[in-house]
Amino acid sequence: MTERPLLHITQPLPARVEEALAERFDVRFGAKRRASVAGPAAASEIAVALREADAVLCTVTDAVTAECFEDGPVRARIIANFGVGVNHIALNAAKAAGITVTNTPDVLTDDTADLTIALMLAVMRRLGEGERLLRRGAWGGWHPTQLMGRRLSGKTLGIVGLGRIGRAVAQRAQEGFGMTVMAWSRSRTRASETGEGIQRVSRLEELLGASDVVSLHCPLVKTTRHLISGPQFAQMRSDAILVNTARGPVVDEAALVEALEAGQISGAGLDVYEQEPEIHPGLLGRENVVLLPHLGSATVETREAMGMRALENLAAFFDGRDVPDRVV
Ligand code: 8YV
Repeated sequence: MTERPLLHITQPLPARVEEALAERFDVRFGAKRRASVAGPAAASEIAVALREADAVLCTVTDAVTAECFEDGPVRARIIANFGVGVNHIALNAAKAAGITVTNTPDVLTDDTADLTIALMLAVMRRLGEGERLLRRGAWGGWHPTQLMGRRLSGKTLGIVGLGRIGRAVAQRAQEGFGMTVMAWSRSRTRASETGEGIQRVSRLEELLGASDVVSLHCPLVKTTRHLISGPQFAQMRSDAILVNTARGPVVDEAALVEALEAGQISGAGLDVYEQEPEIHPGLLGRENVVLLPHLGSATVETREAMGMRALENLAAFFDGRDVPDRVV
């Protein structure tokens, strides 16, 4: 019998996924599988895994830095990321070491788009505030002017980054809420494109000034780090809200806090943060901010599908087939 490849898995995964991976690979788990508290895999664990295992399966929390590849000859031939964003992996270093990197697109699009809409509604309709009021026993009963929020339906949505998730959000906003949708993206900025009923704008400023809701869906790369900072908040309307289900560092969090304090924008819904799991203290006490712990893809269906997609990438690689989701 041929030897089965050794797969190092950094984090605990849904049981069905772990079982399916164990059917195909010799599986070795990192320290976080046994840990009582969630957290990133240590850099030393990843460096050792790259030297000792044939493949590594990691997640967004695990920083696969350039240094992880520098500790001696690398045995691993593939890093299968459980997730679509790969900003935590030093792709150039992986490429230089001859390692294939894959991700799990598509399977998390709908759930992340759903959560984005949930955040829009939560901020506009003041759901967090209402729930906190009720839980602290401060609800005296219905009255006509209590917790009046703002309507989402019919408003203008500005999408920053029109990839799979941005498009899925646009579709929900148009079909479910009759919203007007504008979009700006780094890659295609021709304002003339109007496909899918989405108005493409060539300048981010134009979108920021026109939107009731600005929703971020771009990847975190060099050019999108702090894409939304002081000057961009100044361009937004004072009654607008910002929603971020992409990556925390796309937003300059300190500038966001200042913008909220100064009333430059009226609220924010965040699923991701600059220094996860740290939350800027200036956000925690604000009623007009809804804060979620990076739940975009957190459904049983999607997390299982992400695991199966990672397995498919690994299996294809070791079978010598085309790898479906190759990043490098
Ligand atoms: C995942 C995400 O849960 O896929 C992504 O890029 O942000 C999340 O939805 C996470 O990446 C798991 O690694």
